[in-house]
Amino acid sequence: MHCLCLFSFADCPILFSPVDVVVEYGDSFSVNCSSTDKTHQFGLSWEGYDTMENTEEIFRSVDVMDWEMKLTCYMYSNETQCSQNLPVTIYKTPDSVSISIVDHSGPMIEGKQYELQCDVHDVAPVQDLTVKWYKGQTLLNQTTFTEDSKTPVNETTTLLIRPDRADDGAQYRCEAELELGAEGPQYPIKSLEPLSAEVHYKPKHFNSTETIIKNDEVTLNCTVKAKPAPTYTWHSEHLKEEISFSVLQSSTLSPGNYTCTTTNSLGSDSKVFIIKSTVTKASLILLLTLVKSYFIYALHCQIYEGLLHSTV
Ligand SMILES: *[C@@H]1O[C@H](CO)[C@@H](O)[C@H](O)[C@H]1NC(C)=O
Ligand SMILES: *[C@@H]1O[C@H](CO)[C@@H](O)[C@H](O)[C@H]1NC(C)=O
Ligand SMILES: *[C@@H]1O[C@H](CO)[C@@H](O)[C@H](O)[C@H]1NC(C)=O
Ligand SMILES: *[C@@H]1O[C@H](CO)[C@@H](O)[C@H](O)[C@H]1NC(C)=O
Ligand SMILES: *[C@@H]1O[C@H](CO)[C@@H](O)[C@H](O)[C@H]1NC(C)=O
Ligand SMILES: *[C@@H]1O[C@H](CO)[C@@H](O)[C@H](O)[C@H]1NC(C)=O
Ligand SMILES: *[C@@H]1O[C@H](CO)[C@@H](O)[C@H](O)[C@H]1NC(C)=O
Repeated sequence: MHCLCLFSFADCPILFSPVDVVVEYGDSFSVNCSSTDKTHQFGLSWEGYDTMENTEEIFRSVDVMDWEMKLTCYMYSNETQCSQNLPVTIYKTPDSVSISIVDHSGPMIEGKQYELQCDVHDVAPVQDLTVKWYKGQTLLNQTTFTEDSKTPVNETTTLLIRPDRADDGAQYRCEAELELGAEGPQYPIKSLEPLSAEVHYKPKHFNSTETIIKNDEVTLNCTVKAKPAPTYTWHSEHLKEEISFSVLQSSTLSPGNYTCTTTNSLGSDSKVFIIKSTVTKASLILLLTLVKSYFIYALHCQIYEGLLHSTV
């Protein structure tokens, strides 16, 4: 500012209505400039326009065609002038927001790390942009930008993920938001298509052994989730032929160990089913009862001691 100024820059008594403008590139808006100091005010003008003397306020309509646009209003007193710039934020919503996996196509493998990329095309102003990452409804991370640019830019953000089996089918999405206050766009700009994660994982049995007491019929259920779908093989000294079902259901299985091995392209996991015979248990109880009665009997009739030993 020149030292001749009647007012310092900070207290130049110019009032804009509205006080600031948030406008989309290509749109138009109108604004009034007036002075709050009616005693010293002599004239007002917008930069590049004629000065209007003894006016209360001056109106201007603007078509926003210039990213670097500056609107200055001058107030003149009989001695000097001062000016104020109208704060204008020109925005542009992105042409596209898209999500992809970096250097990868096809299903992801459980436990491995992948990089997701979000591309936001042609957006302004970048300092008001926030890119948010979501898995389903859960916010995973967000990025803001420190660079200062009035003109539209392209931005890329990345997110590292290590998916597990629960993430199979999860929807990853990124959203670009311009945080411009009440006058800005009031909707988040979503990625067009969410990224639907396909995660492959090897079979993993919840328990590695399971004990089954044999009734009439036993069901050995080896079914386990894995992707791609697993195959099953059973091993046991009691099995003569090869079985490739996930469930073994029979009334003729002998007590013993039955090992089921579940395999897919990523690995395999085994589970041992131990069939115990109820017959064995019953006869054990019977045997113990017999031993007990013979023992009591033998206490009374010690001559049968020899018989007791031979029975057991
Ligand atoms: C500017 O002033 C004119 C006339 O006084 C008024 O009609 C108009 O609503 C004002 N516009 C704004 C944006 O304040
Ligand atoms: C205009 O300037 C003269 C001196 O140059 C001063 O006496 C007068 O008060 C000023 N008028 C206003 C309205 O400020
Ligand atoms: C979020 O992203 C920033 C980089 O934008 C990174 O530094 C930070 O570690 C991330 N946070 C999480 C929880 O992933
Ligand atoms: C943004 O990307 C588009 C398409 O790739 C390109 O035409 C444009 O020049 C880029 N803009 C900037 C500011 O780099
Ligand atoms: C796994 O074993 C635990 C304890 O041995 C048992 O409580 C649980 O029911 C078993 N789970 C399945 C799915 O068999
Ligand atoms: C075997 O277990 C799976 C998963 O636990 C279940 O969906 C299926 O119905 C069971 N099959 C039989 C025959 O019990
Ligand atoms: C059956 O499996 C159990 C548990 O894995 C093991 O302790 C036992 O020795 C096995 N029995 C036979 C006969 O292989």
